[in-house]
Amino acid sequence: MLTVDLKNRIKRSGPLSFSDFVESCLYDLDEGFYTKRGSAGRRGDFLTSPEVGPFFGFLIANWLDETWLKLNKPENFQVVEVGAGSGTLARAIIDAQPHCLKNGVYTMVERSQKLREEQPTSEKLVSATEIPDSPLVGAVIANELLDNLPFDLLEGDGEYWKEVCIGLMNDQFVETLMGESKESVGVPPVKGARIPVQNKAHNWVENALETIVSGSLLVIDYASTTQEMSQRPQDSWLRTFKKHSRGDNPLDNIGNQDITVEVAIDQLPNGASVSTQRDFLKNQGIDRLVEEGRHIWKEFSSVGDLKAVKARSRITEAEALLDPDGLGGFFVLEWDLPSVD
Ligand SMILES: C[S@@+](CC[C@H](N)C(=O)[O-])C[C@H]1O[C@@H](n2cnc3c(N)ncnc32)[C@H](O)[C@@H]1O
Repeated sequence: MLTVDLKNRIKRSGPLSFSDFVESCLYDLDEGFYTKRGSAGRRGDFLTSPEVGPFFGFLIANWLDETWLKLNKPENFQVVEVGAGSGTLARAIIDAQPHCLKNGVYTMVERSQKLREEQPTSEKLVSATEIPDSPLVGAVIANELLDNLPFDLLEGDGEYWKEVCIGLMNDQFVETLMGESKESVGVPPVKGARIPVQNKAHNWVENALETIVSGSLLVIDYASTTQEMSQRPQDSWLRTFKKHSRGDNPLDNIGNQDITVEVAIDQLPNGASVSTQRDFLKNQGIDRLVEEGRHIWKEFSSVGDLKAVKARSRITEAEALLDPDGLGGFFVLEWDLPSVD
């Protein structure tokens, strides 16, 4: 049992780093949250932009075509989506029939076997466990992946940042403050302040950028900065979820809840252009497409046309995708390669 295994590891080798703890809670091969049940969607645990409806995928397909045009329409353009879940975004993008994928393949990279088994596959749409290591002309995209990569925790004592690990007291998991951290975080260690250290997210972006020969990396997530998080209570940026509600303390309910963190943009590799999802989608012409949807609905609703119903749903989907206090307030980071700086 996962809880017992974790306790035995701590008894054998001492406190676990927070990232090792999160790694087991989310991805343990038998009992991790994403191994057993965790998923996006109305019937899942949290609602992401692709799960709002197909309109988000349609807009990302437009962005993919724009990227392809900027590269002078390469024939071998490929798309790799990482953290693809059960393939909802992939399906919407393929349905939108972007020109860039006329010859290319869309690869859905997903760590959870259970979710990979739910993915739709075809000649154009393939499932994988890792980013293919061959050089890529095209785009890598990741929606709400980085917030789910294991991270460490530090606490300030007024002089130093100290690592927060997970130990045991009376056979219960407890936070254990370790010695001075070697991480250089560039934020003053105010007494009692907490920050996440997101080396896995940094390395993931670095690795994705190394794979792209020419094209773009698009990352969409809830995000802020290390400085900002150091001034806010930990439970406002380190959150747990299950069944569309906030979950329990991360040390409880092991393997039965999602553990996520706001992405510290300053901890990622430099060179990204940063915008909010709201601004990004407005640049992709969402307002015009919603207006077009309104016209189609007016014209065809009386005949109960499916096209009209789909067009009308653009209006409600756009509201959710643009909401500045919700998905519209997420951040979109885009790295273009070869980079111009
Ligand atoms: C919050 S879900 C987002 C799912 C989907 N992108 C969406 O927006 O609905 C994060 C997903 O990333 C997957 N994941 C985490 N680490 C991964 C990795 N290193 N490679 C591939 N998938 C990963 C998880 O299993 C999970 O399905």
